[in-house]
Amino acid sequence: MSQFWKPGTERPRPRIIDDEEGGVLFHPTPTSSYGYSNLERQRQRLPVFKYRTAILYLVEHHSTVIIVGETGSGKTTQIPQYLKEAGWAEGGRLVACTQPRRLAVQSVASRVAEEMGVKVGEEVGYTIRFEDKTVQGVTKIKFLTDGVLLREMMDDPLLTKYRKKNDGHATEESGLKTEPSILSVEGKGYPVEIYYVQKPVSDYLQSAVDTVLLIHEKEPVGDVLVFLTGQDDIDAAVQMLVEVARDKASQFSGLLVLPLYSGLSGSDQDLIFTQTPRGKRKVVISTNIAETSLTLEGVVYVVDSGFSKQRFYNPISDIENLVVAPISKASAKQRAGRAGRVRPGKCFRLYTEDYFVKEMPAEGIPEMQRSNLVSSVIQLKALGIDNILGFNWLASPPPESMIRALEVLYSLEILDEDAKLTTPCGFQVAEMPLDPMVSKMIIAADTLGCSEEILTIAAILSVQSIWVSVRGKHKGIDEVKLRFAAAEGDHVTHLNVYKGFLQSGKNSQWCYKNYINYHAMKKVVDTREQLSRLVRRLGIVLKSCEGDTQAIRKAILAGFFSHASQLEEYSQNGMYKTVRSSQEVYIHPSSVLFRVNPKWVVYHSLVSTDKHYMHNVIAIDPSWLIEAAPHFYQLKRPNPALF
Ligand code: CDP
Ligand code: MG
Repeated sequence: MSQFWKPGTERPRPRIIDDEEGGVLFHPTPTSSYGYSNLERQRQRLPVFKYRTAILYLVEHHSTVIIVGETGSGKTTQIPQYLKEAGWAEGGRLVACTQPRRLAVQSVASRVAEEMGVKVGEEVGYTIRFEDKTVQGVTKIKFLTDGVLLREMMDDPLLTKYRKKNDGHATEESGLKTEPSILSVEGKGYPVEIYYVQKPVSDYLQSAVDTVLLIHEKEPVGDVLVFLTGQDDIDAAVQMLVEVARDKASQFSGLLVLPLYSGLSGSDQDLIFTQTPRGKRKVVISTNIAETSLTLEGVVYVVDSGFSKQRFYNPISDIENLVVAPISKASAKQRAGRAGRVRPGKCFRLYTEDYFVKEMPAEGIPEMQRSNLVSSVIQLKALGIDNILGFNWLASPPPESMIRALEVLYSLEILDEDAKLTTPCGFQVAEMPLDPMVSKMIIAADTLGCSEEILTIAAILSVQSIWVSVRGKHKGIDEVKLRFAAAEGDHVTHLNVYKGFLQSGKNSQWCYKNYINYHAMKKVVDTREQLSRLVRRLGIVLKSCEGDTQAIRKAILAGFFSHASQLEEYSQNGMYKTVRSSQEVYIHPSSVLFRVNPKWVVYHSLVSTDKHYMHNVIAIDPSWLIEAAPHFYQLKRPNPALF
């Protein structure tokens, strides 16, 4: 069991000390019968409420207003409503509010709709990639991701539909001030006591589970928020807790354990935000989405693993990975703050104080500096910003990453020699909310006559996994996968699953029997529908190649030629080398080509754990590479093995 102590007190403290407040209980506020007025009272209690008039005055008089306030002070959910109430959404205009993540967009939209007593998709709507829940002329407040807004700017650079008529621009007639106005809304949370483990923990997952049980045993009422890293460890922790609760029913019957990560179904998301029933303790196990973008009201205890999943891109190898990495002090502080929303709280850090003080970095690295820039470069180009290297970035990315992005886009024929978008390919790609390599694959499928199949593949690749993740049941899953397995590789296998799903009448039982994730498949169907609407608009004709897998593989290559790898001739253990950088890579065990080891393959993505693993792999004929990308394979990288 994890042992915690609180700095500034005698150590060691063998266990979590009882809450000094003893009997102070957190009473869940009644819902439904008082529904509306209760919500209204909640709204008025938020820190921004006191500044309502000031905010409305400032936006009338300044072209830019910056409002600073703690997470949960009401910036996102309230200010759009104030603006709407003050008439900013009249005459066909909209109030838009961006959020960094899809899940945050959906959840705030549903909250604001609830507060306004309307359904999501009417007066309050949202738009995220592949999902538009707004109605023109009806929607007044629209939540959207930054990415969607950027895409809208391509067609409408001045975002006219979000501006007040004849203003928003600081001109002499408008009387608007050009300098931004900055308003700070106070409203601090309650104090949070910090506890550290006494010795470094070897297994943060087990340790997190133990800590939750300890809290439940020792601490008064109040919900628990646990920060882990991703779907895998979150699902595992949920399962472990549910099992304990089942085995020791009497002791742990009050536990209500819920996962929180992007990709959850709507109803699972709603559960997170519903009031904890009296006598129960909600335990939400989350990614860092709950760090800043989402506020859970009843949380009194936070368990911080000290890790999060972060994107890291290496421009030299062109490998981008989501890796579990230590968080920064800034994140740790933010996480702890989540415990002080409704009353003084406690935060249990699964790392030592020594580590926190001496080793944890003060700040994280901005995402822009650890990402693949290909999509950002296309968006800038489409907005007419040509000088990428001289662009005024908030956090300037490394020049190697920018150069690599330009090189990749040139090799995909999305940019021409002058680094301008090509016609029509570059402009079509810019319109697609997808990885440019995927977009290129779709455009090639048009010529190769297999756009129906490629759209299915693109939709499947956009969900995390279509297989259920069940710890310890890999064998069963592997056997089932054989039913769908195609010799060509994973992409064609995916097509077989999709076909089976449609033939079953999109049946959830069929999914269950085949270890297929029903929600993921429903999402695939939706995404595919959105994609097909989009590509038709771009003039791409939907056509099936009726099982011609060569056409399918060639289309994939048109986008992914730079992801080709060749099996090492004398390799005993299935080692491949990438054609591009001679990186040592292996086929991931989840692939249908694992242990089959065809001589030449193309992979969709690389994931590094103990080795670099290729995920979603197909077998190819090397002569197709030159056909797909002569400029890349003949001029830039003459590879004798190809000829
Ligand atoms: O944007 P900011 O962090 O300032 O706060 P917000 O997202 O507007 O949240 C204001 C309040 O609304 C918080 O105290 C949340 O508890 C509540 N809220 C909620 O109950 N359910 C949501 N889905 C979103 C917010
Ligand atoms: Mg917010």
